[in-house]
Amino acid sequence: MRGMAKSVTAFTCTACGAAHKKWAGRCDACNAWNTIVEEGPLSQGPGRGLGAAKGRAVPLSGLTTSEPPPPRCLSGMEEFDRVLGGGLVPGSALLVGGDPGIGKSTLLLQAAAAFSRRDLQAIYFSGEEASAQVRMRAQRLGLADAPMRLGAETNLRDILTTLDAERPDVAVIDSIQTLWSDTVEAAPGSVAQVRAAAHELVTFAKRRGVAVILVGHVTKEGQIAGPRVVEHMVDTVLYFEGERGHQFRILRSVKNRFGPSGEIGVFEMTGAGLSEVANPSALFLSERGQPIAGSAVFAGIEGTRPVLTEVQALVAPSTLASPRRTVVGLDSGRVSTILAVLEARCGIPFAGLDVFLNVAGGMKVAEPAADLAIAGALLSAREDSPLPPDAVLFGEISLSGALRPVAQAENRLKEAQKLGFSQAILPDASKVEGPDKNGSGMALRRITDLTAFVGEVFGAG
Ligand code: TYD
Ligand code: MG
Repeated sequence: MRGMAKSVTAFTCTACGAAHKKWAGRCDACNAWNTIVEEGPLSQGPGRGLGAAKGRAVPLSGLTTSEPPPPRCLSGMEEFDRVLGGGLVPGSALLVGGDPGIGKSTLLLQAAAAFSRRDLQAIYFSGEEASAQVRMRAQRLGLADAPMRLGAETNLRDILTTLDAERPDVAVIDSIQTLWSDTVEAAPGSVAQVRAAAHELVTFAKRRGVAVILVGHVTKEGQIAGPRVVEHMVDTVLYFEGERGHQFRILRSVKNRFGPSGEIGVFEMTGAGLSEVANPSALFLSERGQPIAGSAVFAGIEGTRPVLTEVQALVAPSTLASPRRTVVGLDSGRVSTILAVLEARCGIPFAGLDVFLNVAGGMKVAEPAADLAIAGALLSAREDSPLPPDAVLFGEISLSGALRPVAQAENRLKEAQKLGFSQAILPDASKVEGPDKNGSGMALRRITDLTAFVGEVFGAG
């Protein structure tokens, strides 16, 4: 008989979230193996067609509203607030990912303390360390007087009960992989547990207006261990990155429903915790010494702020049949393209040469605007001829070898001038006021294509 509730079992891919009618070894939506799990019975409503059962009419609204946007909670750690898009939105859910040992616990302990010092209720749950350990760390970081509270717990039900009773403004859960829900029969850290715990916490955040910050460890492939669906569930995903052996750390928003993504905050790991770096360009260029072949300064934009970085290249004769292309901190696909354009359009081959490229200090640069600085570093290394030490470069290179203008030229130039650079090599079509000089007073060397760049900077080529 129609109308009787029927129960069906559903399967979901934990990597991409695709729904499947039956189990399979491989998800045909994202091609991942062994990611399909049973969701348990989903009860199907009565009837089949949409008209069979009457739903509730959803109240609709227009686009204009007289309600002011929700106030943001500021930590006062400017680098942290900036990455959030101007502070934490009440009732939002965040995921902070990063490699083990990079400093996530330190950052969020400092952030929780900072919120609590501004009269916001903050609770930090640690599933990895005992409260005494966290207290000791807080003391070392000079946070002992902050009115935040700690809990050492991994049981999701107990954490939710505590949060419901306390209703803090901010709750940090360190980490999502240690949580354990008694409604799911799987080990802590397993995909099913992480997913269930994240879902419960995100739902709680929305319903009770508590901002929940989840900490997650990242796998070698750069994914938050466990399901990528956690990234879809939360409002904001931040990554905390840095290189071993380097002091500084970058907090980057890769997704943000309440602000621009790609925004970065820069910190330095010191003996007394993370300190904010107000001028990252100066830090990234601090290792530059004498003018050296293979070094090019790129005037980049990270999120909404200009950041200068140094692209370093080393080119050496290779003994290998297929020479090395070692690229760190840059998109290796773009580097291959630039090498091909240099060969095909400018007649400058790199065959038989090993190429090593990186960004100084361990910074990661993904902008196509870095093309010209990459080409400059490569050519400078190959010709063993330094670029002008007072010059910054930016511009996108097309497959034809033409230079394309990039966004925010003026901001890039202002930052370069602030750091003492006096000339810029940039695409001819860049939108900058004035023919040769702009408001910043920098000399502009406008270039139409890569061949012209080789001629202008390295002589006839
Ligand atoms: P931690 O925050 O525990 O990393 P995560 O939570 O991402 O695993 O940071 C661990 C590292 O940070 C550890 O190697 C020691 C270093 N550290 C400092 O250098 N200074 C400090 O003040 C603190 C607290 C940690
Ligand atoms: Mg930790």
